[in-house]
Amino acid sequence: MPLSHLAEEICDPPTLKLSQKARDLKAQGEAVIHLGSGEPLNKTPQSAIDHCRKLLETGEIRYSPTEGAPTLIQAIIGYTEKNYAKTVDKQNVIVCNGAKHALYTLIMTIINPDEEVIIPAPYWVSYPELVKMAYGQPVIVPCTNDQFFPNMTDISAAVTSKTRAIIINSPNNPSGAIFPDALIKELVDFCAKNDLYLIMDDIYHKLAFDNQTPVSCYSFSNGNPETSKLVVINGVSKLYGMTGFRIGWAVANHRVIAGMSTIAAQTVSCASILTQTAAVGALTGDQAPVESLRLTLQNNRDIMLRELKQLANVKVRVPKGTFYCLPDFSAYEKDSVKLSEYLLEKALVVTIPGKEFGIEGHLRLSYCGSEQDIIEGVARIKWALDTQSPDTIQIGNRTVRRK
Ligand SMILES: Cc1ncc(COP(=O)(O)O)c(C=O)c1O
Repeated sequence: MPLSHLAEEICDPPTLKLSQKARDLKAQGEAVIHLGSGEPLNKTPQSAIDHCRKLLETGEIRYSPTEGAPTLIQAIIGYTEKNYAKTVDKQNVIVCNGAKHALYTLIMTIINPDEEVIIPAPYWVSYPELVKMAYGQPVIVPCTNDQFFPNMTDISAAVTSKTRAIIINSPNNPSGAIFPDALIKELVDFCAKNDLYLIMDDIYHKLAFDNQTPVSCYSFSNGNPETSKLVVINGVSKLYGMTGFRIGWAVANHRVIAGMSTIAAQTVSCASILTQTAAVGALTGDQAPVESLRLTLQNNRDIMLRELKQLANVKVRVPKGTFYCLPDFSAYEKDSVKLSEYLLEKALVVTIPGKEFGIEGHLRLSYCGSEQDIIEGVARIKWALDTQSPDTIQIGNRTVRRK
């Protein structure tokens, strides 16, 4: 049965596909270790649960305005003021069904068919597909340094008369890199000068380690906010353990927000008022859980780096934020898909191939699970790759042979 060209062409997110595979294997009783996960173990903050429960108990669960419940818009304005030192108006905010949906709605709003969006690699898996869904052209600019920072000369060389936007994600999924303040300034200036949208996907912005704080992009934008093409995407998924609530948002000039609102009105009407209310609880309640998550992840990062040292031929750049690292496994296997499949089959460890993020020879390993999983997961990877280790290993109640 033929489907639309779009449905045939868009790839399933490999991260979600592999997470499903991990769930299936676990359900079959396999001792699988998930080092591919994109969600930390922290629980939803109590303030979010309380807000949500209170509304639920009224039995009055209705549509909200498309751009979002006024209480949540107000909370986002407060959040932006506190975390970005930027005062925005309610016309500058739209609430969406997760940051992914905010990005989708934004791209549908600003990109025409064949227009180009520059995406520095390594990139989050969904960016190229989201651009293709608007019939735009993703233009991948590969990373040319081992720090995983975008290079301004390469970005500048990729700009054509069809370029409309650049997507930046720092702290970065998959590398964990935080881009230097000077680079963010250059990007803000470059986009302003070339009349391009600069989309800052800030979903991990509070998950930064070693006393580093990602700079607010607004500190470099001094033009008229109502004509500025700077868009900041954010959400509650990663910081508040609320991936299942599906609340994200965009902050942009009022025309972009109005355009996004029209598109959202014809597709989803609004985000669920229940989960918007939970997000109000998260943003306005006790912020200690975010700091506690950050500290846990920093500790997990250190454990991951310590364990990876056992793999003599693996090179890893210290991640400065998020809960991912992107080690180079090319000394063992250059084809990351093949390597990831081998590790899943042989060692029952889920990893995400670097190829999916636009960087071959690497695997994305996440450290948002338990310390035990990190230690055991890396030990199994070492066993599977290191021919000096014993031929067999015990996984769950099975003895597995390497060859
Ligand atoms: C860089 C990046 N942006 C956006 C998202 C989507 O977040 P949400 O759950 O709010 O849709 C993710 C989730 O993995 C991500 O890694």
